[in-house]
Amino acid sequence: MKERLQELQQEALSKVEEAVTLADLQEIRVAYMGKKGPITEVLRGMGKLSKEERPVIGELANKVREAIADELDQKKAKLEDAELEKKLAEETIDVTLPGRPVQVGGPHLLTSIVEEIEDLFIGMGFEIREGPEVETDYYNFEALNLPKGHPARDMQDSFYITEDLLLRTHTSPVQARTMGEYNGSQPVKMICPGKVYRRDTDDATHSHQFTQVEGLYVDKDVRMSDLKGVLNRFAKQMFGEEREIRLRPSFFPFTEPSVEMDISCKVCNGNGCSVCKGTGWIEILGGGMVHPRVLEMAGYDPKVYNGFAFGMGPERIAMLKYGVDDIRHFYTNDIRFLKQYHKA
Ligand code: DAH
Repeated sequence: MKERLQELQQEALSKVEEAVTLADLQEIRVAYMGKKGPITEVLRGMGKLSKEERPVIGELANKVREAIADELDQKKAKLEDAELEKKLAEETIDVTLPGRPVQVGGPHLLTSIVEEIEDLFIGMGFEIREGPEVETDYYNFEALNLPKGHPARDMQDSFYITEDLLLRTHTSPVQARTMGEYNGSQPVKMICPGKVYRRDTDDATHSHQFTQVEGLYVDKDVRMSDLKGVLNRFAKQMFGEEREIRLRPSFFPFTEPSVEMDISCKVCNGNGCSVCKGTGWIEILGGGMVHPRVLEMAGYDPKVYNGFAFGMGPERIAMLKYGVDDIRHFYTNDIRFLKQYHKA
């Protein structure tokens, strides 16, 4: 019996030695250590042994089991280690390889310009307002002193939806809306950026949809010189401290008096070139003192309140600032164009 046990130990250990996978080990474990295994088999025959021999064989059987279990455990740890090593080796990544460049987007040039304008006016105490793009005839025209049949309505060819609804032709209706909301109760100091629509044929300088920024300041004792001061600051901050401004008399139904503002041409420094058509000046916006009728219709007493307003086109400003020669570049969204204006 003793020999049989020793033989079994030898046999099992050499099998463990030969095992190459964890599954092999499991097989050996079941074969030798299980209840139906050869060691149990040997122990079953112990009844035939003498009293003295029994404990000796019992002890030996336990030792054999232990020895096999130990060997199995050690080999298992070894195989597991080897498997891990293999996996690590297979999954190695070369951290020194150069990465693939990631395409980074950025704001559209028009968005950047509008944000720049917003920041500038916020710095002067203006709040930002918004209004609907589908507007009523009342706010788009009537409330701005453009009654039905007024010839100046023809200055802005409109997309009508119904007799009374249209795509707004300018951001000026937001003046009337904001004043109407406050209804004469407090001063107003706002700008409103937004999309506007006109029935124009698209070309290098016209688009059926474009952007405007409206400005309105209503308070007691607002003067033309306030308008000039604000616009002068705007022009210098936007185009450079060396730029000069010039106000020319003009006409808008919602302002009286009305002006158009020019800045001195950056290209020729005011000497005259093809960009400024030889005049040395470039027109960039319209404005004026809010017409008393407009104040009155929105609930402001023109004997107490007065104000100034202005409207500008960010596309035109961007075109002048960056030398963009076609307004359609803003909408066709050619990535080669847009990318030039992404700030690093
Ligand atoms: N709404 C005018 C336009 O679209 C621009 C404008 C001119 C706005 C004078 C104003 C203003 O607020 O006072 O042509």
